[in-house]
Amino acid sequence: MKQAAVIGSGTMGNGIAHVLSQAGIPVSLIDISEDALKKALATIDKNMGRQVEKGVLTDEARKKAMANITTTTFLTEGIKEADLVVEAATENVDLKLKIFREVDANTKPGTILASNTSSISITKIASATKSPENVIGMHFMNPVPVMKLVEVIRGYATSDAVTQTIMDLSRKLGKVPVEVNDYPGFVANRILMPMINEAIYSLYEGVAGVYEIDTVMKLGMAHPMGPLQLADFIGLDTCLSILNVLHQGFGNPKYAPCPLLVNMVQAGHHGVKSGQGFFKYTPGSKDLVVADRFR
Ligand code: CAA
Repeated sequence: MKQAAVIGSGTMGNGIAHVLSQAGIPVSLIDISEDALKKALATIDKNMGRQVEKGVLTDEARKKAMANITTTTFLTEGIKEADLVVEAATENVDLKLKIFREVDANTKPGTILASNTSSISITKIASATKSPENVIGMHFMNPVPVMKLVEVIRGYATSDAVTQTIMDLSRKLGKVPVEVNDYPGFVANRILMPMINEAIYSLYEGVAGVYEIDTVMKLGMAHPMGPLQLADFIGLDTCLSILNVLHQGFGNPKYAPCPLLVNMVQAGHHGVKSGQGFFKYTPGSKDLVVADRFR
């Protein structure tokens, strides 16, 4: 793998660029906003700085990794030399189809086109390209530099060779790849989202409060975050859209999103990114404070 490109410089995109560059792979980080790219570089630098402080990365290795990252707002420019393109744009089917159409038309033959989608069908995304055998899901977990898993999703037409390349690359990034097939929610979110939805139902039905539900799962099941805090961390809008994919994809009412989640998303309470969800968040503070609405 000589050159990679990452489309989208948000939380997931900058994390993916972080681990690729750290593994010695030159990365072109692409976004429509110059400002977002500046913020992404600062975030990567800060997160690599944390690793230097912890002694897991030398300062020299940090500088080398940072030098591996270039940024651009021109998609075609950023992808033209890439052997691998990882798309980490917003979870919106139409947007992803548009991006894959454009990427397919402007990359070298044989370039692997990966999506970091958390639930959109890889087979559907691949249908926007002329080489569906080169399209695959590469689902990283947040925070990317910390979480070991990469869920590698084979679309209906993904080739064995492409799957093997992505499994090997994930290992080179220090991750543990797991191969799964392309069905709604794959494995990670098919299991995670019903748990989060059930936690929200428990709150909605008055079984227990926010703090109590999360404490049961943290201390009782050794989860690093309770399901409500995790939902805030992932983004409540993202949780809702994944539940909708599961609900529509399987046609089973057990995946129907809790009405409280729907209300919160409609009210703009999207979790960490909007400043409040089940908890409220103050920039710079690590205190976990239950949102006023649920006290
Ligand atoms: N980059 C580099 N290092 C980071 C980092 C980042 N972005 N974020 C955290 N870290 C490091 C910290 O430096 C710290 O390192 P040490 O252990 O060496 O001290 C370590 O990670 C723990 O961080 P903190 O001390 O700041 O905080 P914490 O102990 O509360 O851990 C957490 C934070 C790792 C996020 C932990 O709470 C956790 O594992 N939460 C669950 C995360 C999870 O489930 N993620 C998956 C979400 S689902 C998803 O992503 C996919 C989807 O499709 C929805």
